[in-house]
Amino acid sequence: MRIAIDNSTHVLVLTGAGISAESGVPTFRDAGGLWEGHDVTAVASPEGFEADPLLVWRFYSQRRAAMTGIEPNAAHRALVELEHRLGDRFLLATQNVDGLHAAAGSERMVEMHGGLMRSRCTRCDRHPFADTTAYKPNVAPLCGQCRGRGVDALLRPDIVWFGERLPAGVLDRIEAFVSTAGRRLVFLAIGTSGLVHPAAGLVDATRQVGGTSWLVNLERPANASQFDHVVLGPAAHELPGLLV
Ligand code: OAD
Repeated sequence: MRIAIDNSTHVLVLTGAGISAESGVPTFRDAGGLWEGHDVTAVASPEGFEADPLLVWRFYSQRRAAMTGIEPNAAHRALVELEHRLGDRFLLATQNVDGLHAAAGSERMVEMHGGLMRSRCTRCDRHPFADTTAYKPNVAPLCGQCRGRGVDALLRPDIVWFGERLPAGVLDRIEAFVSTAGRRLVFLAIGTSGLVHPAAGLVDATRQVGGTSWLVNLERPANASQFDHVVLGPAAHELPGLLV
């Protein structure tokens, strides 16, 4: 099986945690996943952070530390090759915060849920900045640039938590790509359980413009029937062959 791509095809790719699984990054909802043993609201919501910033920072510091030595895999690299073929007829929307697409070389990309290796201030408007530090368990880091305004403010990971809005411009860019593509759109979802909106709505948007949808996933997720084509298997194994 191959995805038909000609010189008018526009490809919108949506990736989730499954694409990084073979690189050694745990997914969220599979057995042994990141949410197992965690109250999602406690570690991934603004309310959870307000209640216990140390707990939240412990969770994300552990995830930062766990990225040591992790490299992109064949699926990330296949998407870079596809982007080189298609140029501006390609857009990658990722829910992943692990930075592996950028490490592989993807450029036409929107990070829907932020980035694990960035922090931002909870109060001042300084730009989110690169931060790979895995803080000690008893440390919730402070901004350091808020001091002039009294008490220093907490830093937080530059992650979009449950109940928060996506970064400015992210949905606009995806919607503009979908409407420009129209019937020429191929939507390709990879390694995502399709449970989290707005990403989960992209398959509907594709149908509405008359495009074609593909899903590459290890197991059949609950929304699989919404896709025109479903390929079951590990992404690093299945994807390169689908895109030749
Ligand atoms: P999930 O953990 O919900 O789903 C990962 C999907 O990848 C599952 O359907 C697996 O079957 C599949 N999978 C596992 N290994 C795979 C492999 N090697 N190849 C292909 N597929 C594989 O992760 P997401 O869908 O990314 O949000 O979760 C969406 C969002 O919910 C995340 O961005 C995160 C989470 O809570 C926030 O943290 C805000």
